[in-house]
Amino acid sequence: MTQTENKPATQETPFVPIEKIVALCKRRGFVYPNSEIYGGVSGIYDFGPLGVELRNNIRRFWWWSMVQLHDNVVGIEGAIITHPRVWEASGHVENFVDRLVDCKNCKRRFRIDHLPPENVVSNRCPVCGGELTEPRTFNLLMETYLGVVEGERMKTYLRGEACQNIYLDYDNVLKSSRMQIPFGICQIGKAFRNEVTPGNFLFRQREFEQWDLQFFVHPSEMQQWFDYWKEKRFEWYKGIINHKDRLHFREHGPDELAHYAKQAFDIEYQTILGWQEWEGIHWRQDWDLSRHSEYSGQDLSYTDPITKEKYIPWIVETSGGVDRTFLNLLIDAYEEEPDPSGKEARTVLRLHPTLAPVKVAVLPLQKNKEELLTTARSIHNKLKRLMVSQYDDVANIGRRYRRQDEIGTPYCVTVDFQTLDDGTVTVRERDHMTQVRVAIDELPAYLLERVTWH
Ligand code: GAP
Repeated sequence: MTQTENKPATQETPFVPIEKIVALCKRRGFVYPNSEIYGGVSGIYDFGPLGVELRNNIRRFWWWSMVQLHDNVVGIEGAIITHPRVWEASGHVENFVDRLVDCKNCKRRFRIDHLPPENVVSNRCPVCGGELTEPRTFNLLMETYLGVVEGERMKTYLRGEACQNIYLDYDNVLKSSRMQIPFGICQIGKAFRNEVTPGNFLFRQREFEQWDLQFFVHPSEMQQWFDYWKEKRFEWYKGIINHKDRLHFREHGPDELAHYAKQAFDIEYQTILGWQEWEGIHWRQDWDLSRHSEYSGQDLSYTDPITKEKYIPWIVETSGGVDRTFLNLLIDAYEEEPDPSGKEARTVLRLHPTLAPVKVAVLPLQKNKEELLTTARSIHNKLKRLMVSQYDDVANIGRRYRRQDEIGTPYCVTVDFQTLDDGTVTVRERDHMTQVRVAIDELPAYLLERVTWH
């Protein structure tokens, strides 16, 4: 799968208000606020039955594209908790901070780097004009403690970025696999940040999931691999969205580079909130392996097996978020399509068929004919072994199509009276609402061809 093949959204498609996505997610079981019965926790969410299917598909597709398709990339899964020295070596204990000011009048809190420049200069609140406090510094790392005996417990951190495990396991991977530089290690995993201003739904959370590729290279080949992965990642995102014109690169200015980065580009996606980071492509150079060599006392340099040259490998990082992908895909896919006959608009999620949480819905045309129901159930029972299938016989067929459109199901299979005569069913496609007749025996192959990546 390289490009979306579903119906492209029209140029004029307006930006979707985030509230509509939040409401759909709750209503249809994609995302729920965490601990809602206790009033919720800001910046933390749970994923419901459809959300977990969509997330799994997104993760699997990333893994397939990055690990399975590249002979020089392998994967790991590291622990969330590491030795606390990791975070000193990484620079996070010292540098992973936000500078905040409070309004003395309305008590609102702001990150200095999010304030309009004129408010920084005037030291005035952008909302009420009140005077702002002196800036205070907050570290974003989440602390935790290992051990049970008070006084002997070791303070450590929930990882602030998932990629650190890759540097920690780099030497083990090198020794236990047949990789040689240039090669990469991938991981998908949770990260935790005490974000001071979580918000915009899944966009900025305190617990979220990242996917990283760390690609280890000889310094002389850094530029070429940086360019390679930068383009590769851009094309990957372009392939799973409808609004291709809402994706671009933005280069970081010198004052916004992370402490480890010598150069960085963000892949950004445009929503109603403006252009926002989706994934970062970072030129990490030898920062990570040098620092971990220094702090651990282990030599992490690499000796070229042919030239015998010894050096600390440089690193190209591509680091994105499962949650931002989840959110952006929903925003990108959401459309309220006016009904030509003036009826209620159709809400449709034009998700790429391979990523959609439910691949097919099997619908008997009418409920009062037992033969239609048994045939439909039998088709569903066969299909569900191959893909996520739903059986639905509640409400009229039009309403059932709408229910599936709203959650992005690319195909609906209708069992009707003709089915009982000739063994064919109607397959309705979500985006164009076109219908074709397919023999029941050919249905699995017909659908698999369209809903799996290959
Ligand atoms: N290892 C590099 C790193 O962590 P980052 O730009 O801080 O770089 C990478 O994060 C990606 O992780 C971002 O592009 C975004 O997709 C995701 N991400 C970062 N902070 C996030 C948050 N608070 N909530 C959701 N996703 C986040």
